[in-house]
Amino acid sequence: MKTKIFFVTTNHNKYLEACSIFRNSDFLIIHKEDKYHEIQSNDLEPIVRYGLKTLSSKGIYPIMIEDSGLFIKNLNGFPGPYSSYIFNTLGNSGLLKLMKKIDDRQAVFKSVLGYSTSSSSIKIFEGCVSGKITTRQVGKSGFGFDPIFIPDGYTETFSQMNIETKNSLSHRGKSIYLLKNCLEI
Ligand code: IMP
Repeated sequence: MKTKIFFVTTNHNKYLEACSIFRNSDFLIIHKEDKYHEIQSNDLEPIVRYGLKTLSSKGIYPIMIEDSGLFIKNLNGFPGPYSSYIFNTLGNSGLLKLMKKIDDRQAVFKSVLGYSTSSSSIKIFEGCVSGKITTRQVGKSGFGFDPIFIPDGYTETFSQMNIETKNSLSHRGKSIYLLKNCLEI
């Protein structure tokens, strides 16, 4: 029988990405579509640690949560931990407008994943991917900033890739694979 891991997220795509990584493993990802309080912080890790702390009252274990951010070099790392707010307010078209006159389009996507088996046990896994912000939206799959992000060494946006290819390159793919490797030791 597979060991269940509860992934608390309101983002169905993140759940699908995690399922794809754990498909042929002894673990089964269960989607818990709950919200948790996200503190304001310039770093992702405190957000994840606090989220796991607040969720501990529910007693759901083992549990994982994940927080990501897009850090644009020429904007001094903006929007970073505020990526969700910027995506919901400006969207990809607003962000592209904001970057209209910017030539250096280097950016990094970061993912921090927190995994917990009890209120006193938290493990943190991090992944990041460098790439470029496009000048227009390209591609149909994925979510969020996927249509405007091309990982270094590639010519397609995350939105043009299938889930397996995105997972093999992406910030979240890396943090989830680190968790998987750790669980399989
Ligand atoms: P969250 O707070 O981790 O949900 O993500 C912050 C923002 O970054 C949200 O607007 C997400 O849509 C976006 N985001 C997170 N991960 C990805 C990704 O893998 N591709 C594209 N956008 C992402």
